[in-house]
Amino acid sequence: MTTPTLAPEAFDALDRRPSATGGSVRLTDEERAMADGAQGDAVAAAMDLLVRYGDILGADRLVPTDNVCGASIYGPRHSRVLDTTDPVRLFSEFSIDSPDRLDITPARAHSCQLIGPRDHLNWELQGLSAATNEEITRSEEYLASIGVSILNTCTPYQVGNVPMRGEHCAWMESSAVPYINSLLGARTNTEGRESTAAAMLTGRIPYAGLHLTENRYATHLVTTDIPVETMFDWSVFGYWMGWHLRDQVPVVDGIRGPVDPIALKQFGAAVNSSGDVELYHMPGVTAEAQTVEQALRGRAPEAALRFTRADFDAVVEHLNSTATGDDIDFVMIGCPHANLDQVREVARLLDGKRIKDGVTFWIFTPSALREVARRSGWVDTIERAGGKVMADTCPAIGQFVPRGARRFATDSAKQVHYLPPIMGVEGRFGSTAACVDAALTGRWAA
Ligand code: F3S
Repeated sequence: MTTPTLAPEAFDALDRRPSATGGSVRLTDEERAMADGAQGDAVAAAMDLLVRYGDILGADRLVPTDNVCGASIYGPRHSRVLDTTDPVRLFSEFSIDSPDRLDITPARAHSCQLIGPRDHLNWELQGLSAATNEEITRSEEYLASIGVSILNTCTPYQVGNVPMRGEHCAWMESSAVPYINSLLGARTNTEGRESTAAAMLTGRIPYAGLHLTENRYATHLVTTDIPVETMFDWSVFGYWMGWHLRDQVPVVDGIRGPVDPIALKQFGAAVNSSGDVELYHMPGVTAEAQTVEQALRGRAPEAALRFTRADFDAVVEHLNSTATGDDIDFVMIGCPHANLDQVREVARLLDGKRIKDGVTFWIFTPSALREVARRSGWVDTIERAGGKVMADTCPAIGQFVPRGARRFATDSAKQVHYLPPIMGVEGRFGSTAACVDAALTGRWAA
């Protein structure tokens, strides 16, 4: 992944003409040529989409990007709408908003596919038909043919796509966005299918929101009365912050001790489930501000929040509130997708044990890491206990649970936030160890 060669500031010197929509976005000559069709009708449609989008955001220009995560897989839900499985037609309509079948040119920016709807090895366990599996495979093959890397994970930063500090990106995915903005100091807004597809084809994204330095300063100060140490603590803390901050930029002060990147992966997923926090600062941990004062740009915070034991308990109670009992028939670990340490830890907890009959245990990880886990023996250990290591997808995104599942347990604030309303199941939320224990006993005892 390379940083764009033309810094945004250099665009000030370029001749800019008004966008076709008469809005705020001004195009460079090269961009104007793209909009006028010099690189084909798909690039023109993509540029038109970006201009309309940028106008709505109030952007005055586009910025080069060479790191796009988000191109979408299409399956039966989409093909039914258009009554076609033609990937070009589906991409034209759903990704770049064109009713015509366009001539899609190869991706101009480095691009990767985020999480998809099915596990390419375990699709039958998901309850998918062979026809659906084939359709998804064709969609992936099509994306690969235009230059998209099929990573199929919500954590591209765990499998090779690690943006540089200051790099302008166009990423989707609510847990990945705070991770790369905060920990890595890359710059992205939470994009969508259409804007990432347009960015992929043009190498541009509106210069708005978190691409601008002035929008990256903290507005709120957050401190904690209680230790935040374990992955579970960080998930609860994140969910509480999102509840209270919505889309603000916080600076978190007073965290003691080393902070584990896995914990911050869970934290980012939680803070962007209950809220829309796309960037946070944690001096000494995150990439940009080294002090609270720097994070706040020397100004007083608009508000200061303090995390207490009562707040902690309220979040845990809320995230367990869909459960009407303690019997568990499904355990889900790996939201966001588990890293190798998490898979190894689950293997350790399950080693020599047996998951209770009637309970399905799935841990989700990127497929590249599943292969490493397999070679390390952890997949075998988990499967000997009766569990399964899944990849490429997750229940909330793929919209599936094991047949007949009624109440699940998870160590993810995000999954327990989304899965009950999406799939009509009840949820229990606790530590990884509590979830593994529930898998072994069929009961929630945390
Ligand atoms: Fe990833 Fe699915 Fe969770 S996309 S963050 S595993 S809801």
